[in-house]
Amino acid sequence: MAKVLIIYHSRTGNTEEMAKAVAEGVESIEGVEVIQKKVAEVSVDDLLGCDAVAFGSPTNFNYMAGALKEFFDQSFPKMRGKVTGKPYVAFVNFMYSGKEALDAIENICNAFELKKATDGATIKGLPSPEALTKCWDIGNKLAKMAAK
Ligand SMILES: Cc1cc2nc3c(=O)[nH]c(=O)nc-3n(C[C@H](O)[C@H](O)[C@H](O)COP(=O)(O)O)c2cc1C
Repeated sequence: MAKVLIIYHSRTGNTEEMAKAVAEGVESIEGVEVIQKKVAEVSVDDLLGCDAVAFGSPTNFNYMAGALKEFFDQSFPKMRGKVTGKPYVAFVNFMYSGKEALDAIENICNAFELKKATDGATIKGLPSPEALTKCWDIGNKLAKMAAK
């Protein structure tokens, strides 16, 4: 069974709502298992053991949350060359602009040599039903790539 890992940080719940919708999109594909974890609970083995990964973060000071950046920083030496070509998507919540945080996550994913499954989602504040559909869609696309 293919495994899709969703790694996210959320302080006030908006990014967590996005993560749940991404997870539902993943689960819509038969034969794909979803593992949803807050970044503080994720291990290097979780990332090595999955077939695809989604990263979610709020925008803090025009960047990703420090907790997610710390995960990238500490895991990079152990991941280098071991996750090449693994599909990923990113999703970001924001109040003013989410592009900078999304770009920052995607730049780091490039350094890890992960492969972008589809364009990421940037959503303002409490996600609307339409915003949640967008998150569901990226989860669905990611799971299809994981299942291949
Ligand atoms: C310390 C801090 C810094 C923030 N900086 C930004 C920012 O630079 N740009 C922005 O659009 N939103 C910023 N925000 C707003 C959050 O991105 C927004 O409230 C988001 O919905 C929080 O997501 P969460 O509910 O998943 O924690 C900031 C929030 C906090 C607490």
